[in-house]
Amino acid sequence: MTESKKPDSRASWRHYNFTTTGPVDDYLYSMLPKRDEVLAEMEDYATKHDVPIVGPAVARVLQQMALMINARTVFELGSAIGYSTIWWAQAVGENGRVIYTDGDRKNAERARGYFDRAGVTNRITIYTGDALEFLSEQKQEFDIIFSDVDKEDYPRVLRLVPPRLRKGGLFVTDNVLWSGRVAQKNPADPRTRAILEFNRKLYDSKEFYTTILPIRDGLAVAVKK
Ligand SMILES: C[S@@+](CC[C@H](N)C(=O)[O-])C[C@H]1O[C@@H](n2cnc3c(N)ncnc32)[C@H](O)[C@@H]1O
Repeated sequence: MTESKKPDSRASWRHYNFTTTGPVDDYLYSMLPKRDEVLAEMEDYATKHDVPIVGPAVARVLQQMALMINARTVFELGSAIGYSTIWWAQAVGENGRVIYTDGDRKNAERARGYFDRAGVTNRITIYTGDALEFLSEQKQEFDIIFSDVDKEDYPRVLRLVPPRLRKGGLFVTDNVLWSGRVAQKNPADPRTRAILEFNRKLYDSKEFYTTILPIRDGLAVAVKK
């Protein structure tokens, strides 16, 4: 086959099949610095009780992004036991503010205990209820909005975010590759369809400059223009 007839999906620059799977993934995780006692305990708890936290590799990216733009305010949709919340809280510093939201009161109670022990309680506002409803009530502009709620709601979150994010702020969304299901042809699952709609609209949006980082389950990073 001549060079010009190579299917695009096999283009050399794609590094086709070179993803963070298997041994490469193990290597990346082995590079991560040891977490402090509270975060390590939360990772263990999440593993034992099947809580779908972002985990340390993605959490580091979140914290790094906050540090890069000197973020002081973060609104998080879907916080569960507060694992990602603590990484944000560490990044925003003593005068920063992170909004924790979750629909499950038991999660919020557990999170509160972890926040106390991690020494970040005074940086976090806990909201128990519908995260989208709470976001829609916000009058201020945040530096970062992070979405990790039910996937069917992703397109709706995208509609709520622009007026509540400052110019140069980041809209970050987890699970946008959905274990690879985004590559299925005509998926029937409403969550996969919602993610596909969300990803398309986010890339097409004139208000954002977007990339999807293929780390773990896919992280969409969109900067507000
Ligand atoms: C994937 S977990 C969040 C994990 C967390 N971001 C972390 O990495 O540590 C998703 C959480 O979002 C909550 N959730 C889903 N939809 C929600 C909504 N509309 N409002 C509030 N919480 C929601 C669920 O209760 C669940 O605890």
